[in-house]
Amino acid sequence: MCGIMGYKGNKNAVEVCFNGLKKLEYRGYDSWGIAAKDKEIEVFKKIGKISGTSIKDIVPKDFRIAISHTRWATHGGVTEQNTHPHISNNRRIAAVHNGIIENFQELRKSLREKGYTFHSETDTEIIPILIEDYMKQYDFPEAVRKTLLDLEGSFAVVIIDKDFDGMIAARKDSPLVLGIGENEYFIASDIPAFLEHTKKVIFLDDNEMAILNKELEIRGVQNNNQVQKQITIIEWSPEQAMKGDFEHFMLKEIYEQPAALKRAAAESDEKLSKIAEEINKGFGTFFVACGTAYHAGLTSSYIFSKIAKKHVNLSIASEFPSYENFITEKTLMIPISQSGETADVLGAVKSAKKKKAKICSVINAAGSTLDRLSDERLYIKAGPEIGVASTKAYTSQVAVLMLLAYAAIDKLDYAKILLGEASKSIKDMLEDKEIEKIKRIAEAIKDAKSIFTIGRDINYSTAMEAALKIKEISYIHAEGFAGGELKHGTIALIEQGTPVIVFSANDHVKKETISNAMEVKARGGLIIGIAPEDNDIFDYWIKVPDFPEISPIVNIVPAQLLAYYLAVFRGNNPDKPRNLAKSVTVK
Ligand code: F6R
Repeated sequence: MCGIMGYKGNKNAVEVCFNGLKKLEYRGYDSWGIAAKDKEIEVFKKIGKISGTSIKDIVPKDFRIAISHTRWATHGGVTEQNTHPHISNNRRIAAVHNGIIENFQELRKSLREKGYTFHSETDTEIIPILIEDYMKQYDFPEAVRKTLLDLEGSFAVVIIDKDFDGMIAARKDSPLVLGIGENEYFIASDIPAFLEHTKKVIFLDDNEMAILNKELEIRGVQNNNQVQKQITIIEWSPEQAMKGDFEHFMLKEIYEQPAALKRAAAESDEKLSKIAEEINKGFGTFFVACGTAYHAGLTSSYIFSKIAKKHVNLSIASEFPSYENFITEKTLMIPISQSGETADVLGAVKSAKKKKAKICSVINAAGSTLDRLSDERLYIKAGPEIGVASTKAYTSQVAVLMLLAYAAIDKLDYAKILLGEASKSIKDMLEDKEIEKIKRIAEAIKDAKSIFTIGRDINYSTAMEAALKIKEISYIHAEGFAGGELKHGTIALIEQGTPVIVFSANDHVKKETISNAMEVKARGGLIIGIAPEDNDIFDYWIKVPDFPEISPIVNIVPAQLLAYYLAVFRGNNPDKPRNLAKSVTVK
């Protein structure tokens, strides 16, 4: 949700920022801009995606200090005026911002009364103008601090002043991370932006501001006291954040699943058992998550019920406030999040923490805000996920949560063997022959008005997740249902040739699932079976390995591929679906 990148050092700052922005484009791609500083501040802005643009055509000069932004529009349409960076009236200050300033209307009104003019509809523009106003009394760092104290809402900001040899960055409820190189600094919304330059990072915490001048200084926004921060060395390699030979990140990430599952399965027994023990003794466990991560939670709630015989509560993070009354200091909250920056998840965690609940997170991004808010954490170790549609993070989340359920009954060894075998079989499933079949199906259904997906028991969530994948990247209307539910209304939408994807496994609900498929077939539905065995009723059959206990992991892979090819065949870029951004850092 908006990507920020800033640089100060001896390299060509505009080029460093431009290349960094390309890696952050998954956070927003409505428009992008750069402000670079020499004697004056120069601003360059463009509508649309950054990829495919050559920076040399736009910024012919060389600068040492620059800030930049790729936008996911919140306040104001996709126009050049609304594109960041925004600049003060005296053109001395430029700022980029991710987040939402909730009191921007009041601040803008009072600045207008003082005679300042605004050129955009954004909330961000008040930041450089407010700094300009405070600079009538204070120096740049203090004027920034005073401005930050006036802001309500969430922000990650990076600001330059034409007369200041560096930049100032600050955050509250939006991610920002510093990269430390040799005599150079990077500041970005996410690590892949500068991973090719340095693996040394400092994670800024809420209400901290980093003053990058000759030296780096970090201060508390509230009290202006200096803060000592630790440098963390990142394990990810730059290659992991690149597409390699794949046409899209999404495809690369689908193919990375066998390796990611192996890494997830290598989680220490001791750590899993410790958290499983917390679940066993906790008085109320709440899984909270959004979107795909919520579907991982849904799958796991079934696995916990069946395997660990343990009831867990599950809430969409933004709906969690309705459950707050049940949270006590005995509650265990398990937030599930790839990015660890999803605002709705962080909101739920913060309210649970107020009631002293324990937080054990399932996260991909180490060092993220969620990581730092947690008492315990399990990393899914999927590696950087850049494609907006989550794939490998989902299967790794299900894998880690399944390990937890088996750890709760002391059967971790069995679960790890299962995952190891599933990882091998998924690799086979990704062979060319299988892919060709999936492509043929995608070609046959790519003009469908609607696609329905059904599954029962642990594959109910597979149906939900498959529908989400299809709709978010192919833009075909898709809905996922529990197999038994379609006949309670939605079956009215089945017409001759309506594609219905049926997820089945060799388990106790197989017969009922096939019966549900028959009900659809009888009304003209085109049945695509994703199952270990063929069935007469399937018009198309995609064979998956036979792992009933963890069928959600193997079953979702062909559905991810089907969604991918549907998007490609319809001319969409699956890595950058319209209206979406990878981490949703606004509520
Ligand atoms: C869909 C997708 C989203 C995310 C959701 C939560 O493909 O990626 O639904 O799963 O926005 O994001 P995280 O896991 O980062 O909290």
